[in-house]
Amino acid sequence: MNTYIPEITLNDGVTLPAIGLGTYKLNGNAGAQAIDTAIDTGYRLIDTAYNYENEGTVGEAIRRSSVSRKDLIITSKLPGRYQTYDKAVNAIQESLYRGNLDYYDLYLIHWPNPKQDEYVEAWQALIDAKKWGLIRSIGVCNFLPEHLERLEKETGTKPSLNQIELHPFFNQEDQRIWHAEHDIKTQSWSPLARASEVLQNETLQGIADHHNKTISQIILRWHHQLGAIPIPKSSSPKRQLENISIFDFSLTDAEMGRIAELTREDGRINDQDPAVYEEF
Ligand SMILES: NC(=O)c1ccc[n+]([C@@H]2O[C@H](COP(=O)([O-])OP(=O)(O)OC[C@H]3O[C@@H](n4cnc5c(N)ncnc54)[C@H](OP(=O)(O)O)[C@@H]3O)[C@@H](O)[C@H]2O)c1
Repeated sequence: MNTYIPEITLNDGVTLPAIGLGTYKLNGNAGAQAIDTAIDTGYRLIDTAYNYENEGTVGEAIRRSSVSRKDLIITSKLPGRYQTYDKAVNAIQESLYRGNLDYYDLYLIHWPNPKQDEYVEAWQALIDAKKWGLIRSIGVCNFLPEHLERLEKETGTKPSLNQIELHPFFNQEDQRIWHAEHDIKTQSWSPLARASEVLQNETLQGIADHHNKTISQIILRWHHQLGAIPIPKSSSPKRQLENISIFDFSLTDAEMGRIAELTREDGRINDQDPAVYEEF
């Protein structure tokens, strides 16, 4: 299958597809099969993490796939418990061994864990791993502007992207504007808000009916038009295809505005505010 997906260029020149596959909970043989099917369907960006315990599953899907490694963008993430410099270097190498890969295209610090206060050390490890050829592009997840500013101030290098919780119930407008002003791309995790009540929303259903699309397609198109890169997870071949079939229609400014009104202060799925939440 050959589904058209536009490309996005990061501030370091690395290019990414405008949508990718999330893999949280895709493990083992079933996970490898789902990821392999997604690659066949047209996905080229695959998002894993050390803590998902499926870097090996992603590596296996790559081995099963007929698409060559150089045409794929594989992301992994550094856990909070390995943020000191030496531990971070080891974890990056372990991530590569687990995936049986020579390099990751993108490697991200998973959470800033500001109380732990080691994320600048971890960032220095990512900078060095990039110099050693282990990573092509380095970024972060869940960093607030104050954390991003500190990285650049203390190391002179800013992230290529920040992967953050972003969906219609929590649209992160201020953070997205900040990223755009600083040439950092926004990547959206839980872009479908884990497909819970969002799929029953009347406003979204009205827009979906108008375009003859599904609510998931409307939401993912909305991410794209915001300039964000969504990484929806699906284990189903049908829903995987549905989720990348969003580049043949556009939402109007009025529709974008109606979706913007769905955001709520308390719209995070699990109340994981990076200013205080920590993950190890
Ligand atoms: N950096 C971070 O801190 C962080 C945090 C959370 C997640 N992530 C990443 O972001 C990825 C995506 O987030 P997520 O997995 O939390 O949530 P999500 O992608 O918003 O939602 C996934 C859920 O939606 C269902 N789904 C997918 N497409 C659908 C469709 N077209 N219609 C109906 N249901 C559909 C999936 O079920 P089926 O599988 O049955 O289709 C699954 O239950 C993760 O997999 C992970 O890679 C990163």
